[in-house]
Amino acid sequence: MTQTRESWGSKFGFILAAAGSAVGLGNIWKFPYIAGENGGAAFIFVYLICIGIIGFPVLIAEVLIGRTTQRNPVGAFAALTPSKMWLSVGFLGVLAGFMILSFYSVIGGWTIGYVVETLRGSLSNFHSPEEAGVLFGALSGNATWTLGYHTLFFGLTMFIVVRGVQGGIEKSSKIMMPILLSILVILMIRGMTLPGADKGLAFLLVPDWAKINGQSILIALGHAFFTLSLGMGAMMTYGSYMSKKDSVITASAQIVFLDTIIAIMAGVAIFTAVFASGLNPAAGPGLIFQTLPAVFSSMTGGVYFSFLFFLLLAIAALTSAISLLEVVVAYFVDEKGWNRKGAVLIFGGSIYLLGIPSALSFNLMSDVTLFGKTFFDIVDFIASNVLLPFGGLMIAIFVGWVWTRTSVMTAVKEGAEQLFETYPWFESVWFVFLRFVAPVLITLVLLSSLGLV
Ligand code: TRP
Repeated sequence: MTQTRESWGSKFGFILAAAGSAVGLGNIWKFPYIAGENGGAAFIFVYLICIGIIGFPVLIAEVLIGRTTQRNPVGAFAALTPSKMWLSVGFLGVLAGFMILSFYSVIGGWTIGYVVETLRGSLSNFHSPEEAGVLFGALSGNATWTLGYHTLFFGLTMFIVVRGVQGGIEKSSKIMMPILLSILVILMIRGMTLPGADKGLAFLLVPDWAKINGQSILIALGHAFFTLSLGMGAMMTYGSYMSKKDSVITASAQIVFLDTIIAIMAGVAIFTAVFASGLNPAAGPGLIFQTLPAVFSSMTGGVYFSFLFFLLLAIAALTSAISLLEVVVAYFVDEKGWNRKGAVLIFGGSIYLLGIPSALSFNLMSDVTLFGKTFFDIVDFIASNVLLPFGGLMIAIFVGWVWTRTSVMTAVKEGAEQLFETYPWFESVWFVFLRFVAPVLITLVLLSSLGLV
């Protein structure tokens, strides 16, 4: 290579960027609603176990592959094994990034749209979630609205990624992540000081085991993957800009910690408010866009909290979207010799175009369905329920079985010598999870997505 490859300015910058990738719509929109639908505390408990036994070990594996090879997902596998089969795993990852970003940007657009609607005052006069639902239907049903905000959200994502790893991704994460955390703290305090908040806390803390069944365990497992941005090489790509002086294990632990604590904080902020207003915690995907606006309408100063909440959501979505675009860009920069700007424009542009039918799935194209799914649902399903678990399975198998234990241990000890001296058992435990526990459980998720179990 003629140029030196980009890298993070500091370890802290990497942690914030990777946490920015992990913390997204998954934490603030999806986690609260699936926890709400699956009974609260008991589900959260199962989810935490999934994060510990699958998410953490696979995250270490992904970051490690990236850090060791200093390449995008395709180049990374090419550098570690001559077998062509693994190249296709990397390639499917790039494809998944392409697909996820296309519809993620549509929802990301809605969050900006809701910030604007709050400022316009149209979100503050609801008496019930149904009324808020009518507005939600009208907005998402409007093609100009969904397309316009998809364009804006995507434009912001490209604007950041084109500026590069340090000047774009790292710098913007250093600004956005502290804002995100501060907003969340404010919203959590507001929620906990509402009269009746204790019912929301009880919902999150007192488990009702009867609500847990095989299906909810699979949902928790699948979500552990999505929320940590695993399975398609996003963390591999971010890891590829990481220094060999830093510990992959410690960094991964910090990323898991931030992602988990932020999901829980979002749960606290949302459920204390929902219970204080006597509303239904199991409202499903509309919890954020329908139930919450009704909650904010009934709160003193609700419009400020509504503004902060949707801003929080927009920031979380943006820092995740840039990681998805970066995977695709890194592939074309490393492997095909593109320059960053060209790759962002051409491939970002193509992802944007692929997002258009997803944005139209809620309005002009809502009748265009296949197996009862709209274009949006199909892209989401293939990427999140098939490609991600498949990629995660392959990453666990690769590091557990293919890359040889000696090479893996040499690579992972770089920057973490101390850690392995202090906790010598860590190696075997990690390998047991990578070799057996993760492959078996991920296979189950995959089979269940495909309707086979
Ligand atoms: N983790 C993000 C969220 O919780 C979504 C995301 C970003 C993602 N990059 C990813 C998911 C890569 C899977 C793979 O919203």
